[in-house]
Amino acid sequence: MPLKICLTYNLKRVSTDGLPEDYYVEYDDEETVNAIARALERSGCRVVKVEADEDSYLRLRSEKPDIVFNIAEGLRGESRESHIPAILEMLGIPYTGSGPATLAICLDKALTHRVLSVYGLPSPRFQVFETGEEKLRDDLEFPLIVKPLREGSSKGVRNSSLVRDTESLRKQVSWVISTYKQPAIVEEFLPGREFTIGVLGNRDPIVLPIVEILLDRLPKDASPIYSYEAKWVWDTPSNPLDILRCPADIPYSLEAKLKDIALKTFKALGCRDVCRMDVRLDRYGEPRIMEVNPLPGLIPNPDAHSALPTAARSAGYSYDELICTILWYALERYGMEYKLEDRSLVKLPKSL
Ligand SMILES: Nc1ncnc2c1ncn2[C@@H]1O[C@H](COP(=O)(O)OP(=O)(O)O)[C@@H](O)[C@H]1O
Ligand SMILES: [Mg+2]
Repeated sequence: MPLKICLTYNLKRVSTDGLPEDYYVEYDDEETVNAIARALERSGCRVVKVEADEDSYLRLRSEKPDIVFNIAEGLRGESRESHIPAILEMLGIPYTGSGPATLAICLDKALTHRVLSVYGLPSPRFQVFETGEEKLRDDLEFPLIVKPLREGSSKGVRNSSLVRDTESLRKQVSWVISTYKQPAIVEEFLPGREFTIGVLGNRDPIVLPIVEILLDRLPKDASPIYSYEAKWVWDTPSNPLDILRCPADIPYSLEAKLKDIALKTFKALGCRDVCRMDVRLDRYGEPRIMEVNPLPGLIPNPDAHSALPTAARSAGYSYDELICTILWYALERYGMEYKLEDRSLVKLPKSL
């Protein structure tokens, strides 16, 4: 019997009704959903696509898959990425990736910083603004960066998010709060090089080759941040901005430090199967974790510059191998790896 997999996702749509243009930016294109389905089918699995909407609970319950491949960002709310995993946990259906608690913590950038600090893992100094009226803490000095507390894909991170004075700080904070209907997080601006680090596996996870975001490739006069404009407007498959370098050209000591931080972060937050951490160097050249992505983007087209597939490609994984290996790690956690009939697309460290 082929393994039956439900693929849960949220499809990108065009924002209307006065919603900001980046409202749906975290959701996936049909192209990504279909590429994942095809990869799983190439491993001999039967795939049923399930959009992660209000009907998905009943669909998953009646489909009764062996396992769910989950890339759903969730419909709405402060724990939206946890909804599908929580439903699956209740239904007793295995699924790929991290659980509800990890996903809810990582969606909240302040909560993530707080958890990491318990483990002595470095993240930027920050303050959460709920109303926008709060007094800026004394230990936060300009320049600062303003982001929505619970978003991803640089949603709400614009060229204007890097602020250098009180007036622009106030303006940006109230824009975030009113546009995205959530608190803003204000962080010290880390001025150094930027990296993103993919991790695969569980007990003995592997770190993929480190990706550098080449901020000097941004248009002149642009703020040195990997903003919404940088990810989705200035860099498109038809007009690519060559902004990722993998493997990053860094000294061995920095590479070792980044890998160590990535693995400790993965464990501290209870990540599973796959994750990607965004890191930047502070003014002393020391890495700090900006955020943790337990649902990293998996866009198949290399020209889209999706960071985790780029890192995997550099380590020798084809796209299909990346997807099937994530599946295999999940199956292994549940003691179900024997159910995967064709393992030729599973690439484990020994065979690297
Ligand atoms: N504290 C910071 N210092 C410097 N740059 C930052 C900081 N926080 C975010 N950025 C910039 O903004 C981008 C998006 O922020 P990030 O925290 O990764 O949010 P998202 O979840 O939207 O990807 C980062 O890739 C980085 O370029
Ligand atoms: Mg990020």
